[in-house]
Amino acid sequence: MSDNGGVTGPDTPEAVDPDFGLGVLRPRLPSPLREAADERFARHGVRLLLKRDDLIHPELIGNKWRKLAPNLRAAAGRRVLTFGGAYSNHLLATAAAGRLLGLPTVGVVRGQELADRPLNASLARCAADGMRLHFVDRSTYRRKSEPQTLAALLRSAACEDAYVIPEGGSNALAVRGCTALGEELGGHADVVALACGTGGTLAGLAGGLPPGRRALGIPVLKGGFLGAGIRALQEEAFGGPRGDWSLDDRFHFGGYARTTPVLDAFADDFEQRHGLPVERLYVAKSLYGLMTLAAEGAFPRGTTVAAVITGRPDGT
Ligand SMILES: Cc1ncc(COP(=O)(O)O)c(C=O)c1O
Repeated sequence: MSDNGGVTGPDTPEAVDPDFGLGVLRPRLPSPLREAADERFARHGVRLLLKRDDLIHPELIGNKWRKLAPNLRAAAGRRVLTFGGAYSNHLLATAAAGRLLGLPTVGVVRGQELADRPLNASLARCAADGMRLHFVDRSTYRRKSEPQTLAALLRSAACEDAYVIPEGGSNALAVRGCTALGEELGGHADVVALACGTGGTLAGLAGGLPPGRRALGIPVLKGGFLGAGIRALQEEAFGGPRGDWSLDDRFHFGGYARTTPVLDAFADDFEQRHGLPVERLYVAKSLYGLMTLAAEGAFPRGTTVAAVITGRPDGT
């Protein structure tokens, strides 16, 4: 079957510039949408579509593109500063964007102690892409969104003029950027499921879905605190709540980056069945959650569900 399986393409023209002025990077938008024949869904009368956001761009993958593109346009050539841990995919994507667009980038990395050690592969790639790494202690890092801490941090990194993107890339512009995902899917799926970290992608997706369609988020972190964060992001991006969305907190498998043999076996099997490389920190959990919900009869017969493939196993 071709990538789009004949179902891709929005029904209506894009309301906003779909590539946020970054057409030079040749993003594949709308991202491909294809049907996946899977008897675990079919036996409950449910049709499964895979929304291949992992194919938007070879380096700015999935929700990284959707969230970064509007911010890169807003940066308008200024130095971009953002935050992340030592293995942050968001830092990797920002560094790659800097190289591709000729933008200077600064990565504020959690953990002063890392400054004295050899860089791990992830940070080495950021540095090779031209990102200047600025290590800070964990307590400062925790307080990075407080205005005074941020101002001091920008001073100490010698970049007070920088365009600042928050950790994970989820700000109002990013959320608004993700509405395009809902617009692309609105004419094709009744329910759209995806994995959530900060919830920024879900907040935007829900805002872009037409009435009668709903978004279902599978948090990969343990804690059950995400709903309030999503409401706050929608308030910031849209001035109030948008769209029909809900979270199912049962599929974090112990928390961020945690897994179990059951989840690993499920992801291996899904790869084999559908020829889809399954990213393990986020995507595997969302697909597992979706399959469980179908088995529980959570979707009426005749429902079409789309699973958003937000990442690729090789990171970013
Ligand atoms: C592959 C992948 N999927 C989903 C997410 C969750 O995105 P969000 O933080 O917008 O909820 C991330 C986080 O960056 C991710 O890397």
